Amino acid sequence: MAEPQSAAKEDAISRDRLAELLNEDLSREYQAIIAYVVYSQVLSGAQYMGIAAQLEIHAKQELDHALILARQIDYLGKMPAVTPKPVRTSKNPEDMLRYDLDNENETVRNYRDRIRQCEALGEYAMAEQIRQILMQEQDHQIDLATALGIEVPDVSGPQGRPRPKRS
Ligand SMILES: [Fe+2]
Ligand SMILES: [Fe+2]
Repeated sequence: MAEPQSAAKEDAISRDRLAELLNEDLSREYQAIIAYVVYSQVLSGAQYMGIAAQLEIHAKQELDHALILARQIDYLGKMPAVTPKPVRTSKNPEDMLRYDLDNENETVRNYRDRIRQCEALGEYAMAEQIRQILMQEQDHQIDLATALGIEVPDVSGPQGRPRPKRS
């Protein structure tokens, strides 16, 4: 394989560990469902009407993601998690959107790792399913950053591949 050796080592992962990590992802999906259900209904003010409607769509997509993950975890022979990560709330609309964006950033970072880990285990179909989820999570990031009037954060951390500079 053309992977650099350090990345290959980093990806040395067992199927059990992958199932554990997917359960963490599932807990993040539950968190996202709850946050989007609540935020989409309590965001008020004319300037937030567009984004509130988008958050309702996100809520349904996060449920689809949870179902896909639960199926993969079951396939790996483990019991899917039942607990969401904690959901932060605020009366301030901008805070709510920032919490969502923080969570999406964390989610994107994790799915990028997960795709590499699935592939390291030869689970190419699972990697493909997560790639499809990742595409939607990146759209969520864009929706939220746009609503906040900011650039989409660069979440390519030490484990991520460097993002090519735009010229
Ligand atoms: Fe999701
Ligand atoms: Fe999302």
